[in-house]
Amino acid sequence: MLIDLTGRTAIVTGGSEGLGKAIAARFARSGANVVVLARRENVLDETVRDIRRDAVGRVVGHACDVTDSGRVDEVFAAIAAEFGAVDILVNNAGSSNRSPFEELTRASMIADMDLKLFAAVDLAQKVVPGMKERRWGRIINVVSANGKAPKAASAPTTLSRAAGITLTKVMSQELAPWNILVNALCVGVIKSGQWERRHRRDAPDMPFEKYLEPHARPVPLGRFGEPEEFANVACFLASDAASYVTGTAINVDGGLCPVT
Ligand SMILES: NC(=O)c1ccc[n+]([C@@H]2O[C@H](COP(=O)([O-])OP(=O)(O)OC[C@H]3O[C@@H](n4cnc5c(N)ncnc54)[C@H](OP(=O)(O)O)[C@@H]3O)[C@@H](O)[C@H]2O)c1
Repeated sequence: MLIDLTGRTAIVTGGSEGLGKAIAARFARSGANVVVLARRENVLDETVRDIRRDAVGRVVGHACDVTDSGRVDEVFAAIAAEFGAVDILVNNAGSSNRSPFEELTRASMIADMDLKLFAAVDLAQKVVPGMKERRWGRIINVVSANGKAPKAASAPTTLSRAAGITLTKVMSQELAPWNILVNALCVGVIKSGQWERRHRRDAPDMPFEKYLEPHARPVPLGRFGEPEEFANVACFLASDAASYVTGTAINVDGGLCPVT
């Protein structure tokens, strides 16, 4: 399906690597102006240069920790000055954070919620008023399929992911009258910066694909997802083609999650 996002402006948080980078690139190739947010400026700059090579729309990066509300305010002022309205928000910034129950700390649970839930709320509250005015908006919350089917030692991540799925439903119900569609995408195992880092940490001498094999075994499709496969679904949800889809949490996981 050819998706056209010409004339739309999108923000992708955590867009400098992995799934966020693939989404930002897919949006930019589909004609959208794209604002990429992430903390490390050097990685961000390189990503923006990469994405611009095939972009149809404009692509800019802003170094921003999405949990730093002061910095988020500054970045939103810059986005408003450069692009005006924001049509599409992808809350994707995140990192893996899990420990056995008896080792869970209040501090790590709060930090996880701060990044994966509270930041998503803050950013959405900034874009919703403009979306309401124009009666068009798309908000995509990237979560983990484990938020639907948690396993042992998967908190705090699965706690904030379950909350993210609930938040998606709540927002979709409230914002539907303004044609603002809110959906979650539930990741299974998809190749990304975090998997490359784990590989470098755990088994740098092993070929990357070999390292992934045991993690791919439980996946019915028998393999990791490619970030581009994930970005295709995000691009559909961000487009006019998804005009009757809201309030869902779609698994993009090769069939891994037992819960639909
Ligand atoms: N890949 C998977 O198999 C998988 C599985 C389950 C869930 N997920 C979720 O999917 C999303 C994307 O994951 P990924 O695998 O693509 O991860 P990744 O390759 O590690 O990329 C994470 C991105 O988020 C940014 N980021 C992290 N903390 C941030 C913060 N506080 N403020 C702004 N940006 C921040 C990182 O850049 P900086 O570090 O420079 O800020 C980077 O651009 C995450 O929410 C992750 O939890 C992924």
